[in-house]
Amino acid sequence: MRDYTISSMKGEPVWGSLRHMQRDSVDFLETCGALGDIVNYRFVNRRMVGLHHPDLVKDVLLTRHELFVKKGIYSRMNAVFRNGLLTAEGEFWKKQRRIIQPSFTRKNLNTMVAAMSEEAAGFRDELLESADSNQTVDAFEAMLKIALRIITKTMFSNDVSGRHREIAEHIYAINAFLKHRNFSYVPLPTWIPTPSHNRFRHALKSLDSIVMELVRERMQREDPGDDLLGMLLKSTDPETGKRMPMHQVRAEAITIFITGHETTATALSWAYYEMAKAPKLAEELYQTVDAVFGSSVPEFTGEAMKELGCLDNIFYESIRMHPPIYVTYRQAAKDVTLGGVRIRRGDTVHISPLIANYDTRYWNEPESFNPQRFKGGAEGDDKFVFFPFGVGPRSCIGSHFALLEARIIMTTLAQALKFELVDPHFVAKPEPLVTLKPRSPLPMRVRRR
Ligand code: HEM
Repeated sequence: MRDYTISSMKGEPVWGSLRHMQRDSVDFLETCGALGDIVNYRFVNRRMVGLHHPDLVKDVLLTRHELFVKKGIYSRMNAVFRNGLLTAEGEFWKKQRRIIQPSFTRKNLNTMVAAMSEEAAGFRDELLESADSNQTVDAFEAMLKIALRIITKTMFSNDVSGRHREIAEHIYAINAFLKHRNFSYVPLPTWIPTPSHNRFRHALKSLDSIVMELVRERMQREDPGDDLLGMLLKSTDPETGKRMPMHQVRAEAITIFITGHETTATALSWAYYEMAKAPKLAEELYQTVDAVFGSSVPEFTGEAMKELGCLDNIFYESIRMHPPIYVTYRQAAKDVTLGGVRIRRGDTVHISPLIANYDTRYWNEPESFNPQRFKGGAEGDDKFVFFPFGVGPRSCIGSHFALLEARIIMTTLAQALKFELVDPHFVAKPEPLVTLKPRSPLPMRVRRR
């Protein structure tokens, strides 16, 4: 067996490392990552183990994934996701994944290109207005807006036209709740009427009733349609031929809706930040897009996609430096030995793309933004070293959706405009909450190209 470096983090007398994690989880993960391949620590009386080696990532997320389950932090999130794909476990999760997976195949995603392109074009026109009036935009807010519009359109077509703002407000309130809940040691039950619980319950109830109304209405149609909601309603379990019950369609729709936009928005806003810092690299993207599409409306065929390697490299390099999902947890379902260390049933392990993506054993000068590193698989080819979308059976179901969306938005914008930082010396810091988003606004000016 390989020799792993094994160490421990002492932390504070009662809290262990919990307060360090709550105060600054990036600093905590970095400190922990620097201590070795396997690092023992605790959150109060809960034993935690950090795993910082590709073979251990493979072990937990792939080879022995059935022994490492999504409990603890994930069970808390069920107040929102109610056993949707992200938080479900065991046989039930397996069945749901089997049912939903076909909706995310490349063939099905092709049916969403038109909706994504239409939203991206509308977004580009709004940004051009900002350019003409010399307004400052917050790149994160802007990307959140377009990502929310795209998931709304691909999920519900035009059924929610005019309700975008209302939906966005509910989603923000739900996200705010999730952020605080993830970081508390013993979260209060949501029925206790604190102001934040009240806001959360109101938002969830309202979003629920919008989604249920749409589901009911669609179920009465002969054909529920080809958008994501239609696909969820039509999909059947390949083993039993059965459809999902209505409450599960609701849970999956809300899960995909929430998981499917802040992650992509975070990735895109970092990509625009990095491009603004490296205008020569951004120029390369404009030249590529001009060469492939000129000024005509882009058609995202397989051939065109192959020409967009430089865009993909920028996107991958951004999510390497700023992985939207920067840490994931699993709980041991049984006593198990990992890299020679005994993990007891109930212990929690963490795996962090953020730590893996800066590991100098696998990356050359990881602190520098260098999209070229992905060219021809020079770096980042090992899926247990670079796993921004997770790896193994519980990896992201929406990774192709996200990449398609990024290509469509970045191409559509590149044809017409570019972003510049208002202050070229501005250094953005990450805020590690549900995703690793920028801590403060990213003030940018939009310029016509
Ligand atoms: C850049 C964008 C995205 C990133 C970086 C990302 C990252 C991830 C990661 C790392 C996981 C695995 C988490 C774990 O192992 O604990 C995951 C799971 C998931 N993602 Fe994404 N995601 C992105 C976009 C999307 C989109 C666009 C959708 C839907 C349209 C989506 C839906 C989901 C779902 C439903 C799961 C749970 C899958 C399961 O457990 O079976 N994600 N994502």
